[in-house]
Amino acid sequence: MTAPLDQRFCNESADPANIVIFGATGDLTKRKLMPALVRMLDCGLVHPESRIIGVVRDMSTDEWLQLVRDGLAEFAPEVGMDAERWQAFSAALKMVHGDLDDDATYGRLAESLEQLGGSRNAMFYCAIPPRWYRVAARGLNRAGLTAEDEGYRRLVIEKPFGMDLASARELNRELQSFINESQIYRIDHYLGKESVQNLLVYRFANSIMEPLWNRNYIDSIQISVSETLGIEYRAKYYENAGALRDMIQSHLMQVMTLVAMEPPVEFTADAVRDEKMKVLRAVRRFEPQLVAEDTVAAQYASGSIDDAAVPAYVSEDGVAPDSSTETFAAVRFQIDNWRWQGVPFILWSGKRLKKKVSEVMIRFRKPPFNLFDTQASVPAANALVFRLQPEAGVVLRMNAKQPGLTTDIQRLVMRAPYADDDAEVADAYEILMHDVLTGDGTLFSRSDEVEESWEIVEPILQAAKERVSIDRYRAGTWDIRGMETLTRDCVGGWHRPS
Ligand code: BG6
Repeated sequence: MTAPLDQRFCNESADPANIVIFGATGDLTKRKLMPALVRMLDCGLVHPESRIIGVVRDMSTDEWLQLVRDGLAEFAPEVGMDAERWQAFSAALKMVHGDLDDDATYGRLAESLEQLGGSRNAMFYCAIPPRWYRVAARGLNRAGLTAEDEGYRRLVIEKPFGMDLASARELNRELQSFINESQIYRIDHYLGKESVQNLLVYRFANSIMEPLWNRNYIDSIQISVSETLGIEYRAKYYENAGALRDMIQSHLMQVMTLVAMEPPVEFTADAVRDEKMKVLRAVRRFEPQLVAEDTVAAQYASGSIDDAAVPAYVSEDGVAPDSSTETFAAVRFQIDNWRWQGVPFILWSGKRLKKKVSEVMIRFRKPPFNLFDTQASVPAANALVFRLQPEAGVVLRMNAKQPGLTTDIQRLVMRAPYADDDAEVADAYEILMHDVLTGDGTLFSRSDEVEESWEIVEPILQAAKERVSIDRYRAGTWDIRGMETLTRDCVGGWHRPS
């Protein structure tokens, strides 16, 4: 459960808009978009004169409305959709019938927008499988719906954006032939997390950070997303994606760019994205024959999570029994620039691990020697951990004196929670949709960033294609072979979240 975004957090409130959802009966719409829109309407982040228009293929209006209502009850019970609230919310819902590959659908959509009158602004949200992105953009373009004559027209694209460099380039080229790059908002929901934005504020609003934020003081950085869930119902997508595409190329590399970038000249979309892009350009390219040295891939076997038995990946519905798709991936990146030369960035993510935790761990160098001649312990390297979720916040690990007459050292953990309660933190989709409605692209990926990140991981993808078998780890554990070797020269080795 998340708290509604509040006007206090907004720089700008949105104008009335037509929010068009392609994939209005799908999972993303039910789980994320509709709950976010209800909360945004509640607190004025979506203008009350806005309309939400679902493009639906084979359902009556009543059936679709029921589906939306049931979805809200299931995925956002806290919004309390009683009869009166539902009546108010459903008054904003409109439906347009049709197939995505039929030009007539977009004609009907254009007519419907015309008939509804009011705002000419439109956000088109593609909550549809990626193969339909270009089809939707083409349809909108042919129906004249991408032209920004009287209001804005913005296209929102979900990940995955391509499956490799060639397909991402092709998709960019096609989309840009139908709509301008400045109108495209590529969502990476990790950038919408408040805790990720907090990382930027910590970096650039505290003067004590900058002098330490470089190779002179930092030993290594580990960025991780550890999940306890399996692949749920998504075998079809996941079998082709795997953890490298699903998490590393997108969310984790995006977070890495924010950790590693130079201070932008201003907090605007292009200034931030230019700095992120410089980081990607400085990432050392992998030699195809050496990929194995800098990567780990593994797949979960059966095991138990929270005392419940869970099946192996290969026994999940829709997964091939001999699948070698990785459900855990780790990559060791090097950034060749003045700030980061020699500091390994270890990015890792896996499903069915021991804990659900996302973190950025900055490990500082060890103290140069131990001044305190103690038997009990030597000072450990300091660490600054940004906990992205759950219980977002910052933890600083220090050394301190143990009470008593000696100078024995104890580890001290200083915690600064981001909020008193996770429930106070806004949902990433609310933040990101609000940014689209106000035209702020800072938290969205630009075409060059997406292509550059695919280019970086391309040799790893090529190596994975040749894989015939894969290491296994027991679900619910950290038993991943290869992680100690991958982090061999990082002070403290592999950091498993505690
Ligand atoms: C999605 C991935 O983008 O992010 C999922 O496709 C993953 O596989 C999810 O579970 C993780 O997001 P979060 O916000 O739960 O960490």
